[in-house]
Amino acid sequence: MNKMTESKIQGIKDKKVLKDKIVMLTAYDYPLAEILDKASIDIILVGDSLANVALGLGSTKEVGMDEMVHHAKAVRRAVKNALLVGDMPYMSYQLNSKEAVNNAKRFADEASCDAVKLEWFDKCLAVAEKIVSSGIPVMGHVGLTPQTADSFKVQGKKAKAAKEIIEQAKHLQKAGCFAVVLECIPYELSKIITEELLIPTIGIGAGKYCDGQVLVSQDLLGFFDRTNPKFVKQYVNLNLLASEAIKQFKREVKENIFPDEDHSYKMSSSEAKILGVKLAK
Ligand code: KIV
Repeated sequence: MNKMTESKIQGIKDKKVLKDKIVMLTAYDYPLAEILDKASIDIILVGDSLANVALGLGSTKEVGMDEMVHHAKAVRRAVKNALLVGDMPYMSYQLNSKEAVNNAKRFADEASCDAVKLEWFDKCLAVAEKIVSSGIPVMGHVGLTPQTADSFKVQGKKAKAAKEIIEQAKHLQKAGCFAVVLECIPYELSKIITEELLIPTIGIGAGKYCDGQVLVSQDLLGFFDRTNPKFVKQYVNLNLLASEAIKQFKREVKENIFPDEDHSYKMSSSEAKILGVKLAK
């Protein structure tokens, strides 16, 4: 791990102690990553939500390493300050530790990601340990883990299931993870995990007691004309704003309003005269 990444990871861990909330958002391309980085977002995640959000696929399981690295490289070009995390896609780390380390290295070497994220599964501890000891920081992910979930519902509502999630988070900390994402769990449970762990918790649909929060950027920006899950707060309706702008562009082209003089290049009248140009008024 290089010195810069080491200090960014330490900075994220320190925020828990300082009770300074960690802010994390997703990006899959250069323009949005630039906006997030300029807004001093602490962590930018190239999430496997790339599949649904940017590629129009039905499930996060449908995206692979090549697509993830391709998008992580675009995001990297814009990110100057945030900690950049590459989300390990389905089957890039579940088969065996050797392949998992090789794929984590692709994020680090090809896209200069600072860290990778992986979702809980029964053998994830050995995998997380191996990636950490190869020098790449790992963020864990428990609760609703979309790559292996049977259904997309709130996890850990019953005490027995809640205890399992607490144990998973503790095991990930022991395996060397620097932070853990808590997805779609009751806030009572995320409060316990946050209090019991030394590493930061970052919640999505996990209430206010986490050390930080993450959302899919396109959800908070209102990119899509669809109903969001309960935990998403939509701060702006970019879908509406973009549709209105595009309709106005269409109308102005049809009515010959665009492009006007302000958006056109002009010849000198003497050169136009040589060419014999006659312009309609
Ligand atoms: O892929 C993703 O966007 C994620 C976040 C929901 C944490 O994993």
